[in-house]
Amino acid sequence: MKGIILAGGTGSRLDPLTRVTNKHLLPVYDRPMIYFPIQTLVSAGITEIMIVSGKGHAGHFLELLKSGKDFGAKFSYGVQEEAGGIAQALGLCEDFSGKEKIMVILGDNFVEDNLKQAVDDFEKMKEGAKIFLKEVKNPRSFGVAQIQGDKIIHIEEKPVEPKSNFAVVGIYMFDNKVWNVIKTLKPSKRGELEITDVNNYYVKREEMRFDILKGWWSDCGESFNSLLEAALLVQKKADQKAK
Ligand code: G1P
Repeated sequence: MKGIILAGGTGSRLDPLTRVTNKHLLPVYDRPMIYFPIQTLVSAGITEIMIVSGKGHAGHFLELLKSGKDFGAKFSYGVQEEAGGIAQALGLCEDFSGKEKIMVILGDNFVEDNLKQAVDDFEKMKEGAKIFLKEVKNPRSFGVAQIQGDKIIHIEEKPVEPKSNFAVVGIYMFDNKVWNVIKTLKPSKRGELEITDVNNYYVKREEMRFDILKGWWSDCGESFNSLLEAALLVQKKADQKAK
């Protein structure tokens, strides 16, 4: 299974911090943000990783992360030339996937849980997709899953009236049907190819599984507060380790 980190976008919610640099290079306590999704993939046993960023800052990622050796990984790089959405950025990784299953992480998402078991379980599945959910206080800011029994029946992107408090975390596992699904997508109201539309394809076919995360989850790109909270969590963990 291969890993993909999506680190493009304009980061407008963190303006002016993101005016001259890429959101995923901003500090979260003692490290650039992108170190966390790298760590999540590597500790889940995924070491072949493609990193997609926007055209203004691609060189900075290369300078910072290099071949991936420092992380025990091997990095490939891609450039999204315009901000066309998460699913559009993902579409650039088809050749890299070599038709293997993939695990995709948004570069501003970080989780406390180790995802190795989830990855191993997904490897054993013949086909389909898997996502992670987390109960949150502000579901309107995310993709939100409507659940019936043990099934997701629909996902709505940033709903005005959320059907649950379960946000869809920015970590997704897909089989190789994903590449054809992306080719059928139409831009949403915000002019982007939405990852939620990809997920709903699998939901409709009853091929979408999910896990609920146990530990904390942070989308540090969501607001100044989420960026600060993430930094404080990392600091707390570092202090506990030092004791
Ligand atoms: C994206 C997805 C959303 C998901 C979120 C997780 O939103 O579109 O479904 O819940 O990431 O971080 P964005 O942060 O790009 O607006």
